[in-house]
Amino acid sequence: MATPVQRINCPPFTDQRPGTSGLRKKVTRFAEPHYLAMFVQAIFDAVGDLKGATIALGGDGRYYNREASAIILRMAAAHGIAKVLVGKGGILSTPAASNLIRQRGLKGGIILSASHNPGGPDGDFGIKYNATNGGPAPESLTEAMFKLSQTLTGYDILDDSAGKIDLDRIGTQQLGGMSVEIVDPVADYADLMERLFDFDRMRNWLKGNRMLFDAMHAVTGPYAEEILAKRLGASAQSLLNFVPKTDFGNHHPDPNPAHAEELMARMWAADAPALGAASDGDGDRNMIVGAKLAISPSDSLAVLAANATLIPGYAKGIKGVARSMPTSRAADVVAAELGIESFETPTGWKFFGNLLDAGRVTLCGEESYGTGSDHVREKDGLWAVLFWLDLLAATGKSVPAIMDAHWRRFGRHYYSRHDYEAVDSDRANEIVNTLRQRLPDLQGRAGNGRRIELADDFRYQDPIDGSISEHQGVRLVFSDGGRLVLRLSGTGTEGATLRLYLERFEPKTGVLDLEPQVALADFINLAEELIGIKRVSGRAQPDVVT
Ligand code: G1P
Ligand code: ZN
Repeated sequence: MATPVQRINCPPFTDQRPGTSGLRKKVTRFAEPHYLAMFVQAIFDAVGDLKGATIALGGDGRYYNREASAIILRMAAAHGIAKVLVGKGGILSTPAASNLIRQRGLKGGIILSASHNPGGPDGDFGIKYNATNGGPAPESLTEAMFKLSQTLTGYDILDDSAGKIDLDRIGTQQLGGMSVEIVDPVADYADLMERLFDFDRMRNWLKGNRMLFDAMHAVTGPYAEEILAKRLGASAQSLLNFVPKTDFGNHHPDPNPAHAEELMARMWAADAPALGAASDGDGDRNMIVGAKLAISPSDSLAVLAANATLIPGYAKGIKGVARSMPTSRAADVVAAELGIESFETPTGWKFFGNLLDAGRVTLCGEESYGTGSDHVREKDGLWAVLFWLDLLAATGKSVPAIMDAHWRRFGRHYYSRHDYEAVDSDRANEIVNTLRQRLPDLQGRAGNGRRIELADDFRYQDPIDGSISEHQGVRLVFSDGGRLVLRLSGTGTEGATLRLYLERFEPKTGVLDLEPQVALADFINLAEELIGIKRVSGRAQPDVVT
């Protein structure tokens, strides 16, 4: 039976430019008539060649996830897509979606998420397309989506008479000429984790040690229940906030010390578990905490690289490491020691895709609590937690003991990021542009006992396809190995967010064992002197310090 395809005419929306990870806006914007549909049309047009294809669809379960899924399915059918695999309830964590695309050899997938941004009717929503390698669409593709979105005159969607898909019923259903398979969102992903890590060893460790995982009322709740509780035998007390909520319990589902308050308090208590961890809205970020010690994500990447051969999935060694430019250079030091390549890419996971596909790197990381490997093409929160858990089980050491040994061997990169959120856009641009104009003067300038060896606006040439990305953040690199980096966020939805990244290298550790903010005090003052964020924005303090 042919189901009628409707052409809905609609003028373009001018604000559909995807940022660091897809199109992100307030739910209220996405829920305006035709707003989501017009962007989905731009995705389908930009990707092209979708007739007869199979794609994946799923999201982090935030408010509007179900409504959006229904619209996208009706549009997919209207575009001649043969089949869509959908996570039950419209749910797929971002790494699980990446895995599904790869395991099942799909054309690509649509992920509904605004990651760590707050949810609920007044919160944020987001949508992005992942390509056939399971990774975020490259810039050329997102740029094409934006261009197309500016000239669209309407979109194609199946008529209401096509009926509705029951998102909660596992199995195959029909929508017009398209089949929709509702799949268990957890199973394939959990199986992948069993192939990478030593589950027996971790199960044993959990018999004598405690861990605490905070799912922040977000998508990893059911993943943690299956993997940590069911397959690894972690106790019920090991899981915190593991019931997903469409508004994340009114919290900011971002795993950092500022937003995972309860976890931090528990990890600083006298009876703290041996391992604490948290993941974000869509399950791709992670934070690792030991008793009274938060691990900086930059250090985490370095530790995983240095110890990878202890983990079954990486026992043969790693090929190379990549980190985003603002991420500390701790992983570079490890790579040099291991004699493997290291890469510095712009912010955003999409820049790791080519390096992973080409087999040049195995591990990747970002300072923004993102860590991952070539097992998928997204960062992966639970994967990082399991990596640390398996490392504790393999070594029998505590988190602080592992860090101590690491810093003694490789030196320590004191690191912090200061965010100034919802800054007036003009002011924020003025701050960044002024600094850009002053770069030639700053180059070579001495001060505070150090010299600025490099002052530039980071430009990246992809070593695999040669594509160039300009203006990826201003960096000042000092003669003593320290760095100051400034960039504007590409994921915010209100005003502008300025991110200031501070790094200081201390080769002889043990000499200096300070709280990062104390160790970096000098750099914090120098940054204000050189860049003047507080002076120009009128803010007394950063909003978030990680
Ligand atoms: C932020 C992080 C970046 C990460 C992105 C998506 O982007 O800084 O590392 O890839 O979220 O999780 P930003 O807001 O800085 O553009
Ligand atoms: Zn995320």
